[in-house]
Amino acid sequence: MEPSSIILIAEIALILVLGLGWVYGSKRLNLKRHHRAIYSVLGLHLITVFLWMIPSGSSWIWNPSSGSWLLFVHAILGIIPIILGIIVIIAFIITPGMPLQLLRKAKPAMIAILILWAVAFILGLVIYSDWYL
Ligand code: HEM
Repeated sequence: MEPSSIILIAEIALILVLGLGWVYGSKRLNLKRHHRAIYSVLGLHLITVFLWMIPSGSSWIWNPSSGSWLLFVHAILGIIPIILGIIVIIAFIITPGMPLQLLRKAKPAMIAILILWAVAFILGLVIYSDWYL
């Protein structure tokens, strides 16, 4: 199997876990499950981005040929949920007791992460079908 297809399958699995972690973790207030899902998704996602997407895209991303704008938008939209996710995780790690105030502040960031992640994912699907199908 081509690495691009492996990455595609990994990213599909990650977005499913992210969705399930949201529905079964945060909505049902099983925070332990929610945290476990988030840490593993972000960890595995960082591996796919750093070991595959960035090396593969570095030759394209500054190349003004047709199609590269899509990659550029994908990368910009994709980097935001990663950075926001890391900030939210660090905020919860360094703040003991999970105060309600922090939870309230973090909620819009969590929703933004989900939305931007989904948009970056859909653009990733378009890139995959453009390049490999
Ligand atoms: C939430 C964030 C992201 C998601 C959900 C995501 C998802 C995807 C998916 C599903 C693909 C298609 C699979 C493939 O082509 O192998 C893809 C490809 C790609 N992504 Fe991302 N991505 C994200 C962030 C990023 C970031 C931050 C960058 C660069 C800084 C990036 C650069 C690329 C590149 C260059 C490809 C094409 C790789 C190739 O197949 O040669 N992505 N992404």
